[in-house]
Amino acid sequence: MDNDDRARAINTHYTPGDLGAAILAGLIAQGKNPEAPALDDLAPVDQFHTGGKAATLELAQLVPLSAGTRVLDVGGGIGGAARLLASQAGCAVTVVDLTEAYCQVGEMLTRRTGLGQRVTFQHGDALALPFADQSFDVVWTQHATMNIAEKARLYAELARTLRPGGRLAFHEIMAGPNAPIAFPVPWATDQRISFLWPPEEVRSLLTGSGWREQTWVDKTAASLAFFEERLAIFERAAADLPPLGLHLLLGDRFGPAFGNMVRNLRKRRVTVIQAVFERA
Ligand SMILES: C[S@@+](CC[C@H](N)C(=O)[O-])C[C@H]1O[C@@H](n2cnc3c(N)ncnc32)[C@H](O)[C@@H]1O
Repeated sequence: MDNDDRARAINTHYTPGDLGAAILAGLIAQGKNPEAPALDDLAPVDQFHTGGKAATLELAQLVPLSAGTRVLDVGGGIGGAARLLASQAGCAVTVVDLTEAYCQVGEMLTRRTGLGQRVTFQHGDALALPFADQSFDVVWTQHATMNIAEKARLYAELARTLRPGGRLAFHEIMAGPNAPIAFPVPWATDQRISFLWPPEEVRSLLTGSGWREQTWVDKTAASLAFFEERLAIFERAAADLPPLGLHLLLGDRFGPAFGNMVRNLRKRRVTVIQAVFERA
């Protein structure tokens, strides 16, 4: 698959319909103001990773964030983490994402939450970031690198855009000891856009290319509990799903993808790692 095919496949995977309209309709159905939603109103749908809002706040505790911090959220989706970091710490967050529709929906939601001065979106590829060297103090990724095959190039790009002493904070799905995984999963319907590396290979790549490890935590058990809970809610709800949730992002694939995540985590086919590295 060449770069254009890969970008097309990722855009198709993450764009099941008119996501912006579905989110606004969901807000109205929940009695919320679609013109000025609170961040918590959006949290069921804008935190597209294991552990939801709590996982974003946990990772944020591990990096220094304040009003002057320049953060890059790579593969930041519709910007849930970016808005949360900007509102909690006052930092400026740039989201870069390969899925064009996510950037548009993210911009629309950010404008409505009143955070447009601090959170901006840029359509682009993590493998060729459209930013000058050393533009950021913190580079952040949550559940985005699974779609990226060229890990060495990815982390080299992240290092290039970080200032020396800056931090890379991530919360990522990696291979488990018992791969291969069962598809579909939330990030791919088949292996064409899924590239999980064993955690120790990611760790050696980073430590061998000038990154200093600060934190490395295996979050697989907590992730299994999260997916089991979400799957149970989904199964209980049957056809009557809540107006806002991750099913809006995954369409009909939601049930099978969450079922497979429970199986993949139980059988240790995938691992979830939370980590922070410092750029030398
Ligand atoms: C599962 S979503 C996670 C979104 C967000 N980080 C969150 O936690 O809510 C994965 C995101 O990674 C993005 N992505 C995948 N490959 C990418 C690449 N090469 N460059 C930039 N973004 C990419 C996808 O478009 C998608 O928005």
